[in-house]
Amino acid sequence: MDRIMPTKKDLLQLLRETDGYVSGEAVSEKLGITRAAVWKQVELLRAEGYVIDSLTRRGYRLRETPDLLTQEEIQAGLSAGEFGCRVFAMETVDSTNEEAKRRAEQDAPHGSVFVAEQQTGGKGRLGRRWDSAAGSGLWFSLLLRPKALPSQTAGITLLAGLAVCRAIRRETGCQASIKWPNDVVLGTKKVCGILTEMSAEMDQIHYVVVGIGINVKKGAFPAELQEKAVSLEAGAGRPVRRVPLLQRILEEFELLYREYGVSSFPLEEYSSLCVSLGRRIRFFRNGSEVHGTAVAVEKDGGLVAELENGETAVVTSGEVVVQGFYGQ
Ligand code: BTN
Repeated sequence: MDRIMPTKKDLLQLLRETDGYVSGEAVSEKLGITRAAVWKQVELLRAEGYVIDSLTRRGYRLRETPDLLTQEEIQAGLSAGEFGCRVFAMETVDSTNEEAKRRAEQDAPHGSVFVAEQQTGGKGRLGRRWDSAAGSGLWFSLLLRPKALPSQTAGITLLAGLAVCRAIRRETGCQASIKWPNDVVLGTKKVCGILTEMSAEMDQIHYVVVGIGINVKKGAFPAELQEKAVSLEAGAGRPVRRVPLLQRILEEFELLYREYGVSSFPLEEYSSLCVSLGRRIRFFRNGSEVHGTAVAVEKDGGLVAELENGETAVVTSGEVVVQGFYGQ
């Protein structure tokens, strides 16, 4: 992605701040460049997808911004907070989680965001691969440096799922729900997956990386994913812009994080959005598969299941298959 040169960036900021038209003369004075140079910068922005009207005697007006995952676009509409304080936007990367970890080792601050158009080695949970084709989704990671013990982080993945769920509902109107612990689904198909990784010692967290992958664009999934996955655009029945969605997720996540930290979460809201509850499930317990019904989420995040043999079990990690979801 082309980095925005200082003048182009300044021009963009000026256009954003101006309600209506700003004259070429005013731009040239404020930026200290000739009017011909202003025109050149306008053309450069247009080439990147910015729609800029120009009228003789009135000047320039920014009518539409492109849905570009650039630092400028992401930070432009973000309400000032810690999440998104630094944005590392990349065209291609192996995995935004890996990049976040590398930068975390070099002191990237709490709240840094790593986003890429394409991941060549996108990672899913349980060692799986995450399909991350160019421009088809929103692939990003958030770096957190919580002041908590490693044993007190059970809430973080649930908060992440909740933040995505809220943001999707608000931005697209889609009735997103959560499949425990933090897949976000539309109907019975997955629209978002979350991979949380942590670097810690026994009594100290160095950092947590929350990686979020959302299928946004309407397009063909590989054959093996067609029964399992859905895109936001297919769900919404209209184009969905990634930049405002990312901004909303960061805002919702930060609100939740400020209130709950990493150790807890709003149990009632989470439970009301959790589609696993009341459904037949199966999972592995002590090496063998057991069947039952998911009945509740505990306040420390575990999924309570009533098993066919009458026992009650609490699942805290691993894969839980929900009957009827993801073609199963
Ligand atoms: C899952 O298996 O459901 C988790 C998928 C997580 C994918 C996201 S995409 C951005 C971030 N970078 C990665 O390599 N993985 C996560």
